[in-house]
Amino acid sequence: MRPLRRHSAHPPQPAPARPDETFTVTFDGRRLPALSGQTVAAVLWAAGVTAWRDTRGAGRPRGVFCGIGVCFDCLVTVDGRPNQRACLVPVRPGDAIRTQPGTGWADARPQDAGADHE
Ligand code: FES
Repeated sequence: MRPLRRHSAHPPQPAPARPDETFTVTFDGRRLPALSGQTVAAVLWAAGVTAWRDTRGAGRPRGVFCGIGVCFDCLVTVDGRPNQRACLVPVRPGDAIRTQPGTGWADARPQDAGADHE
């Protein structure tokens, strides 16, 4: 039987990483720092925000549940577009993120609100 070999770099060393410069987004008018590659949810969590949507019926607060784009609990309005999954959407400099009440169509941009949602 062959003896087990110890890996020379065990445990593995972390890769050196240098994050890009921070930029700013807003959440309900509040300026928040963000990094390239972060999702909307990551930016909100880093700022201590854990709920950014109300349920349609009872108006209960919601934020991230699954974190992988499956449950749709994290819906948020980004730049006037409602129903964006915060756990999947990457932030961009200057994004205006807003709490989404209900279906989110009440305050959607006209070009995003089709006839079905008026
Ligand atoms: S947390 Fe489930 S879809 Fe975003």
